[in-house]
Amino acid sequence: MDLTSTEVRPVFTAEAIAARVSELAAAIRRDSGNEEVFFLCILKGAFMFMADLSRAIDRHARCEFIGISSYGKEKSSSGEVRLTKDLDSSIEGANVLVVEDIVDTGLTLSYLLANLESRGAASVRLAALLDKFERREREVQIDYLGFKIPDEFVVGYGLDFAERYRELPYIGVLRPSVYSRV
Ligand code: IMP
Repeated sequence: MDLTSTEVRPVFTAEAIAARVSELAAAIRRDSGNEEVFFLCILKGAFMFMADLSRAIDRHARCEFIGISSYGKEKSSSGEVRLTKDLDSSIEGANVLVVEDIVDTGLTLSYLLANLESRGAASVRLAALLDKFERREREVQIDYLGFKIPDEFVVGYGLDFAERYRELPYIGVLRPSVYSRV
């Protein structure tokens, strides 16, 4: 099925994403020395980014997952952050690299980063694929950033709208006609 023309306007092709992910992996490798990389994927949106980043890293990597939800079926954050899946193991003393799909208002990450520090992580760095900087309400330091984007709702490559479009290999802007129907 071709969703491209009717529902989603492509912005970053699969090739453009892959090229940027390789650059981010190289920067992470440089900064990590010979240390194992401790990836912490924020579910669900970052699962594809994390899969590609961990394959590109060419270092021993540990892959952990945490589930957080702040949207429900809405198009903008409610500001209420809910833990939907907790970590399986302790992060005490670990140098954690949080992997996030998109930083929008920053509410989700400011909650999570404070939460991780309170659990005794030695350091917490952040890799985010997209930065919707115009909408920021809480300051968040992004150590490894894929792309800055304007204030438009994007889907694909793990990102959803009401649980749809995650499977697309590219990232695109969801046409307003789609979400005005919901
Ligand atoms: P924040 O708390 O407002 O920074 O929202 C962060 C979360 O909202 C991200 O992890 C995404 O899951 C979701 N989000 C924000 N903008 C978009 C978008 O354009 N498309 C899909 N999900 C988004």
